[in-house]
Amino acid sequence: MKKIIFCISIFILASLKSLCQGIDNDNFVVTHGPWIQNPGTTTITILWTTNKPAVPGITLTMPDGSKRFIRNSHDGIVDAGGTLHKVKIDGLRPGTEYKYSLSSVQILKYQAYRIYYGDTISSKPVSFRTIPDNSPTVSFTVFNDVHEQAGKMGSYLRHNALANQDFYLFNGDMMDWLQDPEELYAAFLDTAAFYFAGSKPFFYVRGNHETRGFAARELKKWFDYREDRFYYSFDFGPVHFIILDGGEDKPDNSRYYYGLADYDAYRLKELEWLMEEVRRDNFRNAKYRIVIVHMPIIKAANQNQAMTFMSEKFGPVFKESGINLVLSAHTHKNTFYDKNKTGFGYPLLVNSNNSFLEVTAGMQGIKAVVKDVEGKPVAEYVFK
Ligand SMILES: [Fe+2]
Repeated sequence: MKKIIFCISIFILASLKSLCQGIDNDNFVVTHGPWIQNPGTTTITILWTTNKPAVPGITLTMPDGSKRFIRNSHDGIVDAGGTLHKVKIDGLRPGTEYKYSLSSVQILKYQAYRIYYGDTISSKPVSFRTIPDNSPTVSFTVFNDVHEQAGKMGSYLRHNALANQDFYLFNGDMMDWLQDPEELYAAFLDTAAFYFAGSKPFFYVRGNHETRGFAARELKKWFDYREDRFYYSFDFGPVHFIILDGGEDKPDNSRYYYGLADYDAYRLKELEWLMEEVRRDNFRNAKYRIVIVHMPIIKAANQNQAMTFMSEKFGPVFKESGINLVLSAHTHKNTFYDKNKTGFGYPLLVNSNNSFLEVTAGMQGIKAVVKDVEGKPVAEYVFK
């Protein structure tokens, strides 16, 4: 009898083992992030990755301590099954602090009539703040032309008090190119997530280098853009921000693009949008208007194709409508152009690849401080 029971036990154990083979529920972890995107007065988007497929969710703690659990769905199907997770939250209150934690439920098997779940991991709560309806000031830091040297960014961030910044701006060329999406993490995203991106949003402006490489056409998957475009506007405090995308720098027929560039048509569409944008009340009624664009828009000879195009077509629109400040990058040199020197009536501040800009706009004016990689101020500009 004992022998029969022993044999049955061995059989059950062997069956269980064979059932579990191929199901990997060990070491399920969050691999990157979170990083928050596309902040609004009532919305925000949170992204992160896991090493194995999961069902993503966010547990939101409201200011009164009550909780909301959020999952997104598309066409009636709850978002699930990938390793890159993007959860959009709406119904928030302006200028309000919320706490959130990531919820990732591992998917062991996903079939038409059978889904097996594994572990659930919940991250420590982190806080973020929605954009206020009315704020007398706005403060932000600009990074650009980091070209995958995240150490420079890390050095600056280690040396700076971050508590007062409302958001961060990556003004292009954070990457050399985007061939394998994994490159994004080491290039700058992990550093951003380590220092601030879980609680302070960043806006990722496309530079000419972000257009290069096979995965460049998928860049939006890792971020969240207003109206799903690389050019858009938003309001924060006294400033109306316009974010522009100059595309590639060379002519569309350059041999380096192998027939896959169509930027002139793209920039003309962007121009149409801009001409409508400057007629909107948000633009017209703003105390300040700041343009963020990777390649400088300035009247000058011997510029690349994109800069000539934007200078000829976007510059006059800005001259007509009135812009307080343009922040650019691309040249790898710190250069300041007075409003009488740009040809379009605005001052232009170009930030180098070895410095960082801290900008504050308030009732008294706009102040921009240029800092080096150790956080030491190297120049300061005030625009009344
Ligand atoms: Fe560039």
